[in-house]
Amino acid sequence: MATEFMKYLDKSLKYLHRQGAFLTVADDQGRENVMTISWGNIGFEWGRPIFTVLVRQSRFTHEIIENAKEFTVSVPTRAALRDQLAFAGTKSGRFLDKFAQGVLTKVPGRTVQVSTVKESDIVYECRIVYHHAIDPNILAKDVDQTSYMDGDYHTIYYGEIVDCYPREA
Ligand SMILES: Cc1cc2nc3c(=O)[nH]c(=O)nc-3n(C[C@H](O)[C@H](O)[C@H](O)COP(=O)(O)O)c2cc1C
Repeated sequence: MATEFMKYLDKSLKYLHRQGAFLTVADDQGRENVMTISWGNIGFEWGRPIFTVLVRQSRFTHEIIENAKEFTVSVPTRAALRDQLAFAGTKSGRFLDKFAQGVLTKVPGRTVQVSTVKESDIVYECRIVYHHAIDPNILAKDVDQTSYMDGDYHTIYYGEIVDCYPREA
């Protein structure tokens, strides 16, 4: 896995940042939720391949991932997935089971216990190795003002990429 994920790096980042991807989380009580993300990154930290995701405190996903050990990111690389990304990025799992609405199909993870999204093209399975909440006291003022006018700060989760593969695999 150390370098396998590099094969899909450019394409994944392009679609993650421009269009969005599906972040799926599950807690130790078996609650699972999917939401759209576009803020995140893929790289090396601690000598390991790491996927970082930024989740605002207001999200239902935040409630779940705070008690989670793993997450998956499923990246669609087709414009045709815009409706599904908009669905997962506007509805909250606090009020409905997004996987039960006939819009997105869950598929078991290959290596982790969290589901992945069938309607995607590149899958990342991650083990959370670290997280930290944004501390406004050490955040540049201009970033604070442009990204956190409402005080809804992100927590950043670092997931070691333990599996990565194209959907058809
Ligand atoms: C294209 C797109 C990208 C998004 N990226 C993020 C993100 O990186 N982090 C975040 O906290 N919310 C992001 N959101 C907002 C969440 O997906 C949205 O608030 C969602 O309804 C939260 O679902 P939940 O309450 O079930 O967790 C994004 C939404 C869209 C449409």
